[in-house]
Amino acid sequence: MKVSDAIATRISCRAFKSDPVPEATVRRILECATKTPSGGNLQPWHVAVLTGAPLQALVADIAEKRHLLPDGEGSDYPIYPPNLHEPYRDRRFQCGSDLYAVLGIAREDKARRFAQFSRNFSFFGAPVGLFFSIDRRMEVGQWSDLGMFIHAVMLLAREEGLHTCAQEAWAIWPRTVAHHIELPEDRMLFCGMALGVMDDADPVNTLRTERAPVNAFTTFHGWP
Ligand SMILES: Cc1cc2nc3c(=O)[nH]c(=O)nc-3n(C[C@H](O)[C@H](O)[C@H](O)COP(=O)(O)O)c2cc1C
Repeated sequence: MKVSDAIATRISCRAFKSDPVPEATVRRILECATKTPSGGNLQPWHVAVLTGAPLQALVADIAEKRHLLPDGEGSDYPIYPPNLHEPYRDRRFQCGSDLYAVLGIAREDKARRFAQFSRNFSFFGAPVGLFFSIDRRMEVGQWSDLGMFIHAVMLLAREEGLHTCAQEAWAIWPRTVAHHIELPEDRMLFCGMALGVMDDADPVNTLRTERAPVNAFTTFHGWP
């Protein structure tokens, strides 16, 4: 598969088939992703991979806790800047409204929106969940390295015929996730990721998001 095809066919998959993913496949993806560059070759990424009973135990734990804490425990880092400004604010709004539109959920239908958000906490039915964490002492440069690593994992999953969804939603449950994956105190949870075979029949996977054109974010210098 060409890199451009992996990029073009990667979407955030929000409904998976239950088909299992072999450990060897996940290992192959992670081994190849270790080629990701990082400043000073620090390789600041850490990954926990769950399937089967450990995944189900986490899903059950969150399901129980969400009755008492619908907004989670509070993330260890601000997921978005406070008072998100334009053009980012509008893009975030659009992202949500497009998702609810493909599902036929009205913006004011809080119950169905909450139900859709809740699907994050079962990895959208994926058989494998990954958690990405980073040493708390790391700086923004290393967070960027971690992001590149995560994108490599998503693209390599495409090469294996699999799909993914990165999930910052898990960041609202840092302590519960830490307990389940035995995350050391000095490590911060960044996000989760669902991994598996896409369920093509689910309308949620028809969502295709838009991007601003190159000229909206690039300045070219030196060409006539
Ligand atoms: C770091 C990161 C965290 C994300 N967290 C979530 C999440 O918690 N739940 C979710 O449904 N989508 C999540 N997304 C998916 C984004 O909404 C999605 O990437 C964006 O809308 C662009 O759509 P696309 O991935 O289909 O191209 C996340 C994406 C990234 C990169």
